[in-house]
Amino acid sequence: MAQTTKVLVIGATGHVGGQVVSQLADTGVEIRALARTPAAAALPAGVEVVPGDLTAPETLAPALDGVDAVYLTWPNLPGEAAKSVIEVIAERARRIVLLSSAAVRDDVAEQDNPIGRVHALIEQPILDSGLEWTFLRPYGFATNTLEWAPQIRAGNVVRGAYGAAASTLLHEADIAAVAVLALTTDEHIGARYILSGPTSLSRAEQVATIGAALGRPLTWEEISPARARAQMDWLPAEFVDFVLDGLAELVESPGLPTSTIQDVTGAPARSFAQWAADHAADFS
Ligand SMILES: NC(=O)c1ccc[n+]([C@@H]2O[C@H](COP(=O)([O-])OP(=O)(O)OC[C@H]3O[C@@H](n4cnc5c(N)ncnc54)[C@H](OP(=O)(O)O)[C@@H]3O)[C@@H](O)[C@H]2O)c1
Repeated sequence: MAQTTKVLVIGATGHVGGQVVSQLADTGVEIRALARTPAAAALPAGVEVVPGDLTAPETLAPALDGVDAVYLTWPNLPGEAAKSVIEVIAERARRIVLLSSAAVRDDVAEQDNPIGRVHALIEQPILDSGLEWTFLRPYGFATNTLEWAPQIRAGNVVRGAYGAAASTLLHEADIAAVAVLALTTDEHIGARYILSGPTSLSRAEQVATIGAALGRPLTWEEISPARARAQMDWLPAEFVDFVLDGLAELVESPGLPTSTIQDVTGAPARSFAQWAADHAADFS
């Protein structure tokens, strides 16, 4: 198999993409990062930052010049737009690693939820493209808890719905570690990796864990799902339903950890306590 010498990171200024960039830097491959506003990207020295926008696929062509492998984050855009993006990538690169979602189901003809639907619409043209591919399908990110940062900065109480909902939040560095192996070695071609953190913690326990990292006790205060819904008006209604229904389900059936991070990287998945310690400054 050909060697990966140059990687284009799409989503390099994001949570996972930022980690992909910093971990790729340790492998010695050349890194090019795509950003809509390169001057604002603040990426490590040695990373070539180029302009480009997924909503204008033709802007990706120059960014792909000389690139072997692509790491793709699909931001909050319709899945239908992915087809022409994948076409431009497949004409120029050999390999793609997609940050997809555990919401995608392989056992149904039609995806039964809005997040799975978007990501399936990105996966399909990749499957049809002839590219070497790896799909990373993570469960919830620990970075989702950053939504509590304003409340935590303002006091010691976090108000939210479904405090007993327990999930296996992932450290972005672990997702990135799998991505980097998939970009730079051949063992992961054709894999659909279901990724999770190591332990299931309730939302109330997540808040207490952030408090421990900050050195002050934080407590959970339950509010009704209707009140939580009213505070989520920045999300499309179908996503709000999916998120709240998902939390209600996690109260009854806590998320179960997968062993994929350990199996692929050889290192145990980082704990939520580790994540909270790494991100203490984001809550201060
Ligand atoms: N949160 C979860 O629990 C969870 C779970 C499973 C899967 N996921 C999936 O993970 C992905 C998000 O990953 P993340 O949290 O690492 O991302 P993120 O931190 O939200 O960052 C989004 C990135 O996308 C880039 N971007 C936005 N619009 C763009 C455009 N039009 N053209 C080019 N780049 C654009 C941004 O770059 P610039 O602004 O610099 O251009 C930024 O680097 C989503 O696909 C989500 O569905 C999330």
